[in-house]
Amino acid sequence: MERIYNFSAGPSMMPLAVLQRAASEMVNFNGCGQSVMEMSHRTDEFSRIINKTESLLRKLMGVPQNYHVLFLQGGAWTQFAMVPINLAAVERDSPFKKAVYIDTGIWADKAISEASKYVVARTPASSKGEKYTYIPCPPPAEPDDAYYYICLNNTIMGTRWTELPATGGVPLVADVSSCILSEPIDVNRFGLVFAGAQKNLGPAGCTIVVIKDGLCEGAPSWAPAMLNYSAHINEKSLFNTPPCYCIYMIGLMLEWLDEMGGVEAAYKINQEKAALLYNYIDESGFYRAPVRPKDRSLMNVRFSIQEEDAEKQKLLEKRFTKQAQAAGLANLAGHRLAGGLRASIYNAMPIEGVRALIEFMNHFKKDV
Ligand SMILES: Cc1ncc(COP(=O)(O)O)c(C=O)c1O
Repeated sequence: MERIYNFSAGPSMMPLAVLQRAASEMVNFNGCGQSVMEMSHRTDEFSRIINKTESLLRKLMGVPQNYHVLFLQGGAWTQFAMVPINLAAVERDSPFKKAVYIDTGIWADKAISEASKYVVARTPASSKGEKYTYIPCPPPAEPDDAYYYICLNNTIMGTRWTELPATGGVPLVADVSSCILSEPIDVNRFGLVFAGAQKNLGPAGCTIVVIKDGLCEGAPSWAPAMLNYSAHINEKSLFNTPPCYCIYMIGLMLEWLDEMGGVEAAYKINQEKAALLYNYIDESGFYRAPVRPKDRSLMNVRFSIQEEDAEKQKLLEKRFTKQAQAAGLANLAGHRLAGGLRASIYNAMPIEGVRALIEFMNHFKKDV
């Protein structure tokens, strides 16, 4: 069977070896006569699955013992509310606390709108004036800021923080949905990180939260139980039925990553893939990458076709994505709110996929 190279921002490509392993274990997992999908989350068999997944994540990400690892539902979007509710929200009729949000475009903005229901989300830095094509210089936190929030890799804008802001004693919170396990991060620098699974971790349906012990004791009494980190911490992610199959799939993805040499090995390849593609774009004289070189994402490569006439450009880019799809290079359209083109090259995208894309881009350029 021919498999396509899928450049989707998420849900995204998974390694064939992982899918084949899941297929082989689908009907009868580990000789227990049932699929993981059918298994109660209270069984010993499932305990082994979730424990293994957690310990692999801890090993690969370097999660210290004084951090909790949670497997939740509701997507990264639910974290846009859970973070302020647990880290800064107050009882009804009390004045709001404040928190810092750095505005790096859609995803940071969505987090800001959601947080503004629960805290004063102040945004002392923004790259909006230049269409979010860079990471702004982060101002220091103020001592009474409850937390300091960044989107470590902006999937839509194609930007990435390469240096973390100095926040003093204020906990740093990061949305790592589109860069988790793509490069090493020092978890100790963060109070909390979260990521939806559907990019570097597995299928959609599970959100991973890594949170420092002691940071999450403050959810107000009105907070829904499902949105209270303490409830999930106390029950070790089994407060309600967790996304069992997704957790199992994350475990398989982590085993695959471990076998390929872990995050360091993935980072090396990711840098190589991104450099190949950005260098080609920069030198092509036909394509253009809008993000400043220093702040370019390794995972989500944004580009467009250079053409003065906006209508003509749109038509060309439409033709590009259609012909690419026919050539087995899928999902290269930019996000509907950002336009242009985008190649998401997560851990599971082999370097051959990037080479095939460059070859296609070169043919397309010559044909126009
Ligand atoms: C950086 C980032 N944050 C949050 C989200 C929202 O994730 P979800 O759709 O899982 O809620 C996405 C989705 O692509 C994302 O890329």
